[in-house]
Amino acid sequence: MKAQEIFEKHLAPTSPSPMGLQIIYAKGVYLYDANDKKYIDFIAGIGVSSVGHQHPKVVASIKEQLGKHAHIMVYGEYLQNVVLALAKKLASLLPESLSASYFVNSGTEANEAAIKLAKRATGRHKIITFYKSYHGNTQGSMSVSDNETKKQNFRPLIPGIEKMKLNSIEGLEAITEQTAAVIIEPIQGDAGVRIPSQAFMAALRNKCSETGTLLIFDEVQTGIGRTGKLFAFEHYSIIPDILTLAKGLGGGMPIGAFIASYDLMQLLSHNPMLGHITTFGGNPVCCASALATLEIISEPAFLTAIEPKGQLIAQELNHPKIKAIRRKGLMLAVELNNEEQVNKLITYCVAHGVIIYWFLSTRNSFRISPPLTISEAEIREACEVINRGLDNI
Ligand SMILES: Cc1ncc(COP(=O)(O)O)c(C=O)c1O
Repeated sequence: MKAQEIFEKHLAPTSPSPMGLQIIYAKGVYLYDANDKKYIDFIAGIGVSSVGHQHPKVVASIKEQLGKHAHIMVYGEYLQNVVLALAKKLASLLPESLSASYFVNSGTEANEAAIKLAKRATGRHKIITFYKSYHGNTQGSMSVSDNETKKQNFRPLIPGIEKMKLNSIEGLEAITEQTAAVIIEPIQGDAGVRIPSQAFMAALRNKCSETGTLLIFDEVQTGIGRTGKLFAFEHYSIIPDILTLAKGLGGGMPIGAFIASYDLMQLLSHNPMLGHITTFGGNPVCCASALATLEIISEPAFLTAIEPKGQLIAQELNHPKIKAIRRKGLMLAVELNNEEQVNKLITYCVAHGVIIYWFLSTRNSFRISPPLTISEAEIREACEVINRGLDNI
């Protein structure tokens, strides 16, 4: 169906033919439509609902906070207990050099602000990013994302951006004493789950330190348990200077964060004062939801259960039409022969009660990123539908 029919011309469309499922209710890993048909949410809309829908602890935390107050002031003026508690919880789970959080509203805003902080801290303006990267859709984040076709009609974007090849150690020579920051997804999401090598990441860290360039890790998608560690940087034994989060952080509520040392972060409070500001950043209800979510996901037993679930998906999806599966934890890309097969498979799976989804740029692959709480039985059920779909396309 066309967007104007689905949304009655009252909601602005983002594509000519959206999926258009009318979801009335969601619980655990299931979504329920207007006819009470149920769907396994195998994408967690996208990489967000990591503890499933309506997790009782998250719902209780939101309700408790609503009983106290919702929005009372813009970010950074009043002391709001739940906002500070979330920042302290994050600090307790992160290295000492990532002890200060600034809460914002989305992934793209977190990256915009991280880039501003890097410019402010270094006095430089050049930013290096990577081919096939995706960092968001506002103008700064779009400037440091790849996919030139999608950017074309929105130029001019911000100047001073250079792109590097992932895993090219020689390419790191592009990082110099003029570079403010390098921004990288520690596992590229929209590129179809591309995992950089340990050697490359170590060399990248060294080159940034050598040149006084700030290393920004965009963990909007990889953060908060998605890859089997609380933060994906833990896979590489290196620490970024600035970390950005969103998506899975909020347990279904909108929140992002950029995080660095207090020394770095305090730069945004002077010269100019109010160097980054936001009305809704650190919304207390969103912070309450994020705090409960983080308490659940940061439990060691919860985290260690994630990688075996990813392995189970890879093991169950053993159809000959699958060309490759790239994954870490529960962040997966499944590659088929072409875009047409992907389109047909997604249509089949949705019709048969399993939600899988496209990547923006990697059109011969589909994504799987279920709630981290998904059970083995639910994984098997979803994979059976996908395998049947592959028989049928
Ligand atoms: C790695 C990465 N960075 C940034 C973003 C943008 O986040 P948001 O859509 O919350 O602005 C996304 C969203 O998909 C992402 O995957």
